[in-house]
Amino acid sequence: MWRFHNPVDVQFGPGCLETLPERLNGRRYALVTYNEPFFTELTETITTLAGAPQVVINNVEPNPDIANLEPLCQQLCSSGQPEVIVALGGGSVMDTAKFLSAAGSDFEQTKSYLTEGGHKGQLLCTPIIAIPTTAGTGSEVTCWATIWDKQAQKKYSLADAGLYPESALCDPDLTLQLPVVLTLTTGLDALSHALESIWNKNRNGVSSALAVEAVKTILDTLPHLVRQPDHALFRTDMMKAALKAGLAFSNTKTSIAHNISYAVTLQSGTPHGIACSFTLPQVLRSVIGLDRGVDSDLKAIFGHDLDKAWDQFDGWFRELGVNTDPEAYGYNQENWRQLLLDALQGERGKNFIGQQEALLACY
Ligand SMILES: NC(=O)c1ccc[n+]([C@@H]2O[C@H](COP(=O)([O-])OP(=O)(O)OC[C@H]3O[C@@H](n4cnc5c(N)ncnc54)[C@H](O)[C@@H]3O)[C@@H](O)[C@H]2O)c1
Ligand SMILES: [Fe+2]
Repeated sequence: MWRFHNPVDVQFGPGCLETLPERLNGRRYALVTYNEPFFTELTETITTLAGAPQVVINNVEPNPDIANLEPLCQQLCSSGQPEVIVALGGGSVMDTAKFLSAAGSDFEQTKSYLTEGGHKGQLLCTPIIAIPTTAGTGSEVTCWATIWDKQAQKKYSLADAGLYPESALCDPDLTLQLPVVLTLTTGLDALSHALESIWNKNRNGVSSALAVEAVKTILDTLPHLVRQPDHALFRTDMMKAALKAGLAFSNTKTSIAHNISYAVTLQSGTPHGIACSFTLPQVLRSVIGLDRGVDSDLKAIFGHDLDKAWDQFDGWFRELGVNTDPEAYGYNQENWRQLLLDALQGERGKNFIGQQEALLACY
């Protein structure tokens, strides 16, 4: 028996940003975005389309850190509580918007829930309309936000069913100007979400089907897209794949590669998309033969000879210029082994269907 659930109302297609006024339906809204020229222009477009936001919060930083969120909470409610938050950007914007949605003006309460496991009954959960501008995180269809604490070297997950966006407007045209490096790293993040929902104890019939399709599309499309970043059809395919990966892991959460990535990002500053994906070929190698259903999903992606799959997959990364050797990220055999052992005990690592010995043996 299994259950698949996702409540986000998804609108998909080039130009669908124009449906924002229908989604807002006259409600007072706050706009959360980055302070960069492309986003300033988009803010003007949105203002013309949907009327002026009650407040614009555009000082969002990559990888939201708990240390910087308090002033944003005050800003959010500086002219009254908005009825809805529009998050226009990648994972950092959508996750910041989720924190603001939970907190309203009460930063301390949400902080203590997040960092000390306090009572969550008070989370406000202002509705969110998510407009992703990267094809990566899937945060537009998940109910959690990644919040970092670099000073304490910690990564928190703010999770609540109330934090599923009310709707997601997935407009691939918004990614046409995404720089190549970010196209690569965010695309690899989506790839990791899809594979992580396959070798996952929580997988179900729908999550697996979505994940298999997502991986196949990303393996085919990403190498072409990095060579032709303004190709509208490739952009559409990547955004669809990232959405499917997001829907898949919205039901399973991620697994070992993500748990490994948190330490790698905190220790070396490696971007999330690289940190959560450079281990995928060896993780793949370690799960072959463990579970018939998982093997069958992996065969649907990589072909029947799974023993050759991980090596070919490793070659796919090398062609994209991504090093899959932990040494390239500053690890030796001993501290890498310790990192793997710790990651297997982590919250996401516990979702992994694989076994400790098999994973360690791959390095
Ligand atoms: N909530 C989730 O389910 C989830 C899942 C995976 C990752 N995350 C988190 O998401 C964050 C990463 O998000 P991200 O990878 O989407 O990147 P990001 O939001 O951090 O953005 C990175 C950079 O990309 C630029 N950018 C974004 N869209 C652009 C566009 N269309 N054109 C030009 N520039 C653009 C931004 O200006 C920014 O400087 C991390 O903090 C990660 O932990 C969350
Ligand atoms: Fe991720």
